[in-house]
Amino acid sequence: MSQASSLAAGSASAEATSAAGRVQWSTRMAFILAAAGSAVGLGNIWKFPYITGENGGGAFVLVYLACILIIGIPVMMAEIALGRRGRHNPAQGISSIVKEAGAHPFWKIIGGMALLAGFMILCFYSIIAGWAFAYVPKAASGAFVGASADEIGAMFGGMLADPVGLTIWGTLVLAITMWIVSRGLQGGLEKAINTLMPGLLVLLLVMVGYAMSTDHFEHGLEFLFAADFSKLTASSVLVALGHAFFTLSLASGAIMTYGSYLPKNVSIVKTSLLIAFMDTAVALLAGLAIFPLVFANGLEPGAGPGLIFVTLPIAFGQMPFGTAFGAIFFILLAVAALTSAISLLEPTVSWMTEKFDMSRAKACALTGLLLWVGGIGVVLSLNIGAEWTLFGKTFFDMLDYLTANWMMPLGGLMMAIFCGWVLSRETTIDEMGMGKGLLYKAWLFTLRYVSPIAIIVVFLNALGVIQL
Ligand code: PHE
Repeated sequence: MSQASSLAAGSASAEATSAAGRVQWSTRMAFILAAAGSAVGLGNIWKFPYITGENGGGAFVLVYLACILIIGIPVMMAEIALGRRGRHNPAQGISSIVKEAGAHPFWKIIGGMALLAGFMILCFYSIIAGWAFAYVPKAASGAFVGASADEIGAMFGGMLADPVGLTIWGTLVLAITMWIVSRGLQGGLEKAINTLMPGLLVLLLVMVGYAMSTDHFEHGLEFLFAADFSKLTASSVLVALGHAFFTLSLASGAIMTYGSYLPKNVSIVKTSLLIAFMDTAVALLAGLAIFPLVFANGLEPGAGPGLIFVTLPIAFGQMPFGTAFGAIFFILLAVAALTSAISLLEPTVSWMTEKFDMSRAKACALTGLLLWVGGIGVVLSLNIGAEWTLFGKTFFDMLDYLTANWMMPLGGLMMAIFCGWVLSRETTIDEMGMGKGLLYKAWLFTLRYVSPIAIIVVFLNALGVIQL
């Protein structure tokens, strides 16, 4: 089995190869689960609620949903198609498509930038995933039982103030991610995701149920869904756009690499819609579970990255079976984060194995080491180095800001233009597999005009060139 394709290995049927000789996902479901595993992660449960809180609620959520619909979904389809067409890691895959299409070499930048964005995200993603891991023993030991909001806030603050602890948990996350990616255990992963996703959904529903029992459910609902556009700023629109990319795992190599293992007969349209739907549902459920608790406990919706690590433990400390629910919840969150982290590491590893003919193990070790160094920078941003800022942003803030708000939308813009304008219609018709009827035309129109114009308008608005 070739090194580059051993990701898809693990279950015997996964070793079915395409005409081009590349190992592929065992089934359509395997791809959907892996892509959904990539999409659903900290972005949905940790980031979505806290940025919604910071950006005023309803109007922000509406813009985010619009971005998913008119930009995220069409770009996701384009990205999967590019991955499948390239049949390689993002850099070489895009390169070969550029060559095949006789396009300007400039377009190769799409692949390189995606690899870089994925790497930068994983630097901080592993540290935040470490928070979820750290909360498993906390929850299981009953540390939240009867604790006040202040005490739980202090627990979170204590964790952030401890660079050694954060490093240990982050290292654990990286080590597990490297181990899984180096072994190409996709078969086992498929199974893990299979039980994890429904489990996460059930627990989120339990938490929403609990939130309903507080007398602030309506308040939470109103915060999430009543749009007050006066609260929307140029930068919050940019954050909403960036988050649509982040939460769907776009423009960072992940979806493109997973798409490169996709058999030709699988419908890109249906799978993209399904993944986007699941992803959005999980984010909204997380919001519904969290905001009523925020208001019921007199907390600040704009409290920042600690939001779920403070609100949910309060609930776990008060509800029946809270210790068990809390432990299970953080285990599920940790696994959801791991399946995303795996998809963030895979593109770089597949690039190194294919480009430099390196073994997967070596590529994982090397990338892991670099990620670990980046992770230390992120850890220090949270405590000792909180004052070390550039343009008022710590290293962690900078990684998050640059990737989500600029690199990913820019990558998405380039993919939309490349697929919509540069590639021939024959190529996209062939790859999308939805005929050349109305559906295809609607997709192409969105990709050619709607998505690029929307992204450019948000960019210009954020830069202050125009005012919405
Ligand atoms: N989509 C993941 C999440 O929401 C994060 C991610 C971004 C994963 C980019 C892969 C690539 O948590």
